[in-house]
Amino acid sequence: MRELVREHRIDPAQLVQPLFVVENPKDAGPIASMPGIERFTLQGAVHEARTLDALGLGAVLLFGIPETKDAAATKNYDPAGIVQQTAREIKNALPHMVVIADLCNCEYTDHGHCGILNELGDVDNDSTVEVLTRTALTYARSGVDVVAPSDMMDGRVRAIREALDAEDFEETAIMSYSAKYASAFYGPFREAAGSTPQFGDRRTYQMDPSNGREALREMALDAQEGADILMVKPALAYLDIVRAARDRFDLPIALYNVSGEYSMIKAAAINGWIDEERAVHEMLVSFARAGANIVITYFAKEYAARSR
Ligand code: PBG
Repeated sequence: MRELVREHRIDPAQLVQPLFVVENPKDAGPIASMPGIERFTLQGAVHEARTLDALGLGAVLLFGIPETKDAAATKNYDPAGIVQQTAREIKNALPHMVVIADLCNCEYTDHGHCGILNELGDVDNDSTVEVLTRTALTYARSGVDVVAPSDMMDGRVRAIREALDAEDFEETAIMSYSAKYASAFYGPFREAAGSTPQFGDRRTYQMDPSNGREALREMALDAQEGADILMVKPALAYLDIVRAARDRFDLPIALYNVSGEYSMIKAAAINGWIDEERAVHEMLVSFARAGANIVITYFAKEYAARSR
């Protein structure tokens, strides 16, 4: 009877698995701070996508790790860049699979910031938006279905939407990291992606964890600018924001269960301090209860494999 009256169920089709893809095969392999997660070569990523597709997952979210970086993130909009190539290959192999590409500069800049720096060493909003727009077009041309700007620059959703439409990519969707907080929970990701800022931090462009109303304002702006999906990130400490967003907007709400949230559970499980399977289910159900429709989580593959 408990099953009969159950209010929320997790469907693998609503889960998104992040995939780290390296340009230099030497960089492939396990990520120490994220047990069970690895950095794939291009071919490895295509193989993994086949497995995820067979498990019924909703989508993959691509993160590229280029071989070389520079101050202007030029590798980000290289038509033969690692994300562009991976997207092409996955879409060739699995045309029905939804491919989302994270759109940011932090993996591509040698200073590790999400944007282009001005003379003062601060991230310059408008020149960063230009690079993002350029990159988004190369992603769309490579078959990416959804571009996901995670930089938190102002006005980028509108700029990307206009650029995509101008090239007849009306059907390429935008999933905006709308309410992205300056969070300690991204630590393991930065090791995985090699994107730790070389100086300073991301507080000039990511949100203050103390602010809730501001998140709704950011989301309203992105919705107005043409975002198709609004995202809240991280997940566990921000479920109040998800609930408020679900009640206020009609767009799909995505939630990013980030690297630190993954690693905390994994570390406790490896030490025998927590029942991983139950903890993960409890966490995913809490996301659904809060109102999340799409959940990006490093647990997606394992969860889908267990639900078969
Ligand atoms: C890129 C980006 C980050 C994450 C997703 N996209 C890192 C950051 O902002 O520092 C974090 C994902 C995670 O921790 O799992 N800007």
